[in-house]
Amino acid sequence: MRVLVIGSGAREHALALALRRDPQVSALFVAPGNAGIAQHAEVRAVDASNGDAVVALAKEVAADLVVIGPEVPLVLGVADAVRGAGIAAFGPSAAAAQIEGSKAFAKDVMSAAGVLTAHSEIVDHPGELDAALDRFGPTWVVKDDGLAAGKGVVVTADRSVAREHGAELLENGHPVLLESFLDGPEVSLFCLVDGETVVPLLPAQDHKRVGDGDTGPNTGGMGAYTPLPWLPAETVTAIVDDVVKPVAAEMVRRGVPFSGLLYAGLAIGQAGPAVVEFNCRFGDPETQAVLALLDSPIGELLYATATGTLDQVDAPRWKDGSAVTVVLAAENYPARPRSGDVISGAESSGTGTESEVLHAGTAQREDGALVSAGGRVLAIVGQGADLAEARKNAYDRLAGIKLPGGHFRSDIGLAAVEGRITVPTPA
Ligand code: GLY
Repeated sequence: MRVLVIGSGAREHALALALRRDPQVSALFVAPGNAGIAQHAEVRAVDASNGDAVVALAKEVAADLVVIGPEVPLVLGVADAVRGAGIAAFGPSAAAAQIEGSKAFAKDVMSAAGVLTAHSEIVDHPGELDAALDRFGPTWVVKDDGLAAGKGVVVTADRSVAREHGAELLENGHPVLLESFLDGPEVSLFCLVDGETVVPLLPAQDHKRVGDGDTGPNTGGMGAYTPLPWLPAETVTAIVDDVVKPVAAEMVRRGVPFSGLLYAGLAIGQAGPAVVEFNCRFGDPETQAVLALLDSPIGELLYATATGTLDQVDAPRWKDGSAVTVVLAAENYPARPRSGDVISGAESSGTGTESEVLHAGTAQREDGALVSAGGRVLAIVGQGADLAEARKNAYDRLAGIKLPGGHFRSDIGLAAVEGRITVPTPA
């Protein structure tokens, strides 16, 4: 099978490494890729958001399967264009990608499917902001009602901070989504979805705030770990049965069946799992940890999802143990990350079992030096017999990497190791 992956982050690096481990994958291309991915796959240039350009590249490399990583191309219909050209595409149609691209669509689907989620209101005029804020909080959850990769979200107990963020979004022409705050530990559950067939992967937990102890602004994600020692297996079953399957069925009922990776972001509260958000693609940085533990050929799973035969393949198998991703971010991330800093010690073996370095925002300078080229620069993945060992392997590997001004969280997975995360007992 010849596979083309679209995207350029550490998520796509993780997908590329998992595909390379699959003996059925005979040729692997990534576009536009990055400096690290180039060590393991043939990297091609492409405008990832242009369906015609992606189709032309898929034909040029004779791809049997195109895997679309990021949300923007999906929301813009790149998967439709690839399928329209008769090539299998892993990723939903533009219509189904609205589950991430349109908060109003997602809320409507969840309401029809009877899924527990936050109460929300959209504010699209500055004159309505104060009265709307008075109907929420504390705590206030203020979101950009569009694609913002997590960075458009402010969660705060300070009304003036909530107001400032909402006013700034409105000034820049972005409608604001206010949501009631969902309490409880967060879970990211990725499911392969092909119509009404739902196959869960391992549950993971992201760390969205930039600083240790969940302090500072939200980011795209500073680290993740999997599996979750504090999450009962029956809660995962409940998420699949009571959240993901009803949503998948509702999308089929509406004539917009989902095909690809449906990411359920949930808070596990007293009333049970409640949806914080749905995304229409693999999450970053959880994917890097989840795929490190995958013990099944990923090409078969993605191809079956893309071709409507997911119900005919074996469920994924998982390695024992744990995996942890720690993100190394550029100076000033998430506000105005600095680019062009020289990185050393970040060689990616492509075979790492104890640890692996995945590239996100990296580029190769003309003189051959590896330099930072984005906010999240590297994702270091550690594996171990348990979470403590996986953390140690990730942080030991990180200690050998140099990035001027670079910063990372030192507490990824720590609360779980120390037994500080508990699932609330039902009210
Ligand atoms: N981990 C957050 C995201 O992928 O959106």
